[in-house]
Amino acid sequence: MFRRFSSLVDPFQSYDPNTPPENAWRFLAENLWPFRYVTALSLMLTVIGAVIEVWLIGYASELVDVLATASPDLFWENHGHQLLIAGAIVLIARPLAGLLKESLDDIAFRPNAEYLVRWRAHRHVLQQSVGWFRGDLAGRIASQVHDLGAAGVGVAYSIQHTLSFVAVYVAGSVWLMASINIWLTVPLLIWAGCYAGLMIYSIPRIHDASERYQDAFSALTGTMVDTYANIDTFKMFAGDQSGTGDDEQFHEAWFAAVEVQRLEVIINSGMLFLGSALIVGLVGYALVLWQSGLALLGLIAAAVTLSFRITAMAEWMLDAVSSLFGYLGTMRQSLKTIAQPLHIVDAPDARPLRLEGGEICFEDISHHYGKDDGGLDRVTLTIAPGEKVGLVGRSGTGKSTLVNLLLRFFDPEQGAIRIDGQDISSVTQQSLRDHIGMVMQDASLLHRSVRDNIAYGQRDISQKAIAAAAEKAEASVFIPMLP
Ligand SMILES: Nc1ncnc2c1ncn2[C@@H]1O[C@H](COP(=O)(O)OP(=O)(O)O)[C@@H](O)[C@H]1O
Ligand SMILES: [Mg+2]
Repeated sequence: MFRRFSSLVDPFQSYDPNTPPENAWRFLAENLWPFRYVTALSLMLTVIGAVIEVWLIGYASELVDVLATASPDLFWENHGHQLLIAGAIVLIARPLAGLLKESLDDIAFRPNAEYLVRWRAHRHVLQQSVGWFRGDLAGRIASQVHDLGAAGVGVAYSIQHTLSFVAVYVAGSVWLMASINIWLTVPLLIWAGCYAGLMIYSIPRIHDASERYQDAFSALTGTMVDTYANIDTFKMFAGDQSGTGDDEQFHEAWFAAVEVQRLEVIINSGMLFLGSALIVGLVGYALVLWQSGLALLGLIAAAVTLSFRITAMAEWMLDAVSSLFGYLGTMRQSLKTIAQPLHIVDAPDARPLRLEGGEICFEDISHHYGKDDGGLDRVTLTIAPGEKVGLVGRSGTGKSTLVNLLLRFFDPEQGAIRIDGQDISSVTQQSLRDHIGMVMQDASLLHRSVRDNIAYGQRDISQKAIAAAAEKAEASVFIPMLP
């Protein structure tokens, strides 16, 4: 049965791969659109669930009134029928609605939506240029992709799972109280006013504090990733762990975390006080009504139950609201990186490169990586087909830059590069790179098996071809000796 829920929406379904919107709500609307039916059904079940809960309290209150006056001998005879129906609702309808809703929220929605968001974000990020990646930290980008899934779904989940349930429940409670005795809505409404006040006070503060925390946390993660990635530099120059700036970042993140918690304590104690006030107010008022003959005993039972339930739920809701803002903060932070438009894209009418002789022309090329100097300045160079050219120069004179531009890892700030007369910005990036072989400065080995490294980027490559490639690279000698 659960498999059916998990396959309700395919997270890897095809989609329109545009740049994701930077606005968090628009991003959610776009990415969670495939889940619209699941969400609608879940919301419907939320309403049903909340209505059953409120109805149960109303029914219990009626039952108390009946018990207060009924004679035990005739009780089953007169009320047995009704009790059986109520029992069936509690025993069957309530858990069934709950199971269905949990399955929708936690199986059909949550994991699928998380991976849909992550997968699409990953695919978008992969299209960014090499220059874009050089300007950031790989580990940081990876955690942004991961967080975007968790936080985006967290936002949707808090709204759909918690806020909607509590909203319907509180509205139902007011309606129930009003239907028993209109005056009982007075303490309930006063309480709701104070609760709204507390929300208005706390939400912007929690929002700001969690934003500050997210910024500090993201900076800390960035620093850690940077240090781990350059561990040899660290060992050589900062082995005593001082002067790296890491400690300061830890302190900042810690301080921001304490700030968030401090706010939560203030708000939670405010909540606790409001809850107590509701218990005393609602039950006290019900007692007064009962004493002056305006209400029956059942009302007091309902008032006690409702005040406890609403108190617990209001705390739950406040928690949900504060984590909602935490998630929104995380989302905004991730979207700053992930929702960036692509800078190097194929021209709309790009065609595959047609290789004839392989003449390469750099025409008046300048590239300073967006700075005022450094890089290349007005370089013109023609390499004839079959010609072998060695570029020699001190470090930082722009040899690698020339190669980066030829591969279109960056677009030159000025000038053009042509291969056999075709401007490389007018051909597809894939065909351009397919035609260029490169032995890199550092040997690059992905963190996966040797087989996967050789087969990388080749979908249907045979074992034989892989073995042949290993042979050609003189790697077949040491491969069998690997663990
Ligand atoms: N990703 C980059 N961002 C900014 N500046 C860069 C980047 N890569 C190289 N540079 C700068 O461009 C200049 C040329 O670098 P590079 O082409 O790597 O030189 P070489 O390969 O000849 O040692 C240097 O001044 C270097 O600092
Ligand atoms: Mg170089």
